[in-house]
Amino acid sequence: MSTPDAPPTSRWLGHGSERWLDDPVESGPAAGFGVYLHVPFCAHRCGYCDFATWDDKAGWMHRYVAAVHADIARTVAGGRRAVAPASAELDDHWPEVTSIFVGGGTPTLLPPDDLAGLVERVVAELDLAGDAEVTVECNPETASVALFERLVAAGVTRVSMGAQSFAPHVLATLERQHGPERPVAAVAEARAAGIGSINLDLIYGTPGERDEDWAETLRRVVAVGTDHVSAYALTIHDNTPFGSAVRDGTMPAPDEDLQADRFDVADDVLGAAGFQHYEVSNWARSPALRSDHNLLYWRHGDYLAFGVGAHAHVAGRRWWSHRSIPRYVTAIEDGGSPVAMDEVLSEAERAEERLMLGLRVREGLHPHDVPPLDAEALEDAMRLGLVTTSCGRLQATARGWFLLDEAVRRLM
Ligand SMILES: C[S@@+](CC[C@H](N)C(=O)[O-])C[C@H]1O[C@@H](n2cnc3c(N)ncnc32)[C@H](O)[C@@H]1O
Ligand code: SF4
Repeated sequence: MSTPDAPPTSRWLGHGSERWLDDPVESGPAAGFGVYLHVPFCAHRCGYCDFATWDDKAGWMHRYVAAVHADIARTVAGGRRAVAPASAELDDHWPEVTSIFVGGGTPTLLPPDDLAGLVERVVAELDLAGDAEVTVECNPETASVALFERLVAAGVTRVSMGAQSFAPHVLATLERQHGPERPVAAVAEARAAGIGSINLDLIYGTPGERDEDWAETLRRVVAVGTDHVSAYALTIHDNTPFGSAVRDGTMPAPDEDLQADRFDVADDVLGAAGFQHYEVSNWARSPALRSDHNLLYWRHGDYLAFGVGAHAHVAGRRWWSHRSIPRYVTAIEDGGSPVAMDEVLSEAERAEERLMLGLRVREGLHPHDVPPLDAEALEDAMRLGLVTTSCGRLQATARGWFLLDEAVRRLM
């Protein structure tokens, strides 16, 4: 990354009257206001996944959807000040919602009217910006034109689908319930229904994945005409079947060097196909096709969250609800709160978090968001090639993206 007009490091220390302070600040409340809805049901729990997901053998789905409706209605009626009482920054007025994200689990396991109804509930309770991004996560095997048409009618503008790989044996290792052709058909179905923006998730570095499997996966993801790609290195979580298998020695741990090579290949292939690498794991065909909702997280914006294990953040207060479906549902049915835990971040914690999240995004941080840094620490991080300054902003380098914890540790 070139730094032709990098300002001297002293200009990053404190917030004076540097010219780039006139640039719009995109973080905090300026980042927008989001709503996240979590749908925790999956037909099969993939062996690698540690998201808050369950099958619905116990038959909670109907009560769960009703509980989320009640949670939304009660939170909105309580007013904004009630969600962050310690903050002096807030009035009681809910801002316009700039993004909604329905994630899972497999939201598309819900009956289409129930899924669309959750989005419609948010729209009924809060003001939605005219150009708001409304995303639903969808498993390819649950997709259909009829489902997408119902979602479009509810205001959904974007779909995010887990394709993971286009190599059949990798999909089998990942315990996916679809073959390589289903995501291709699902993209066509989404387009036919009028979904304007499509993301495909990929996982690389799965044991048994060969160089040619990853090359073919990237070739197919480009060919299918997706607007956005999220590519994640396979992470082994202790509390999953893959975690047990790696512990038992029945599955090799992913090779980190090989995953680093896969990341480079993804960057080359997607870059050559016209995708912009705008965040550590995310590529978009144009700035307009980036994920607004995820940018809101990385810009440390405010968002409400509903459903099991869902995390919310407003003005430095973070809270999250029970991860167990019975606890979440019964708390709400009994007229109580589903919040399991909350915390108010100190100014120092907010600054560190903003730095950590902001460095994930290609354009980095506006000077207003960079906490006062020690000159030596900054020079050290720059000398090690972890961060750079360009276009008036503090950015992580490609190396810094790989060693983000290290970069932040050195800076703070
Ligand atoms: C919350 S999941 C929901 C996706 C959707 N249910 C599906 O499977 O199609 C979002 C994405 O996280 C990624 N993911 C989940 N667990 C992962 C892991 N252990 N390592 C790497 N990526 C993972 C997958 O790419 C997945 O599509
Ligand atoms: S990856 Fe998707 S389908 Fe698989 S368990 Fe996780 S949320 Fe469910």
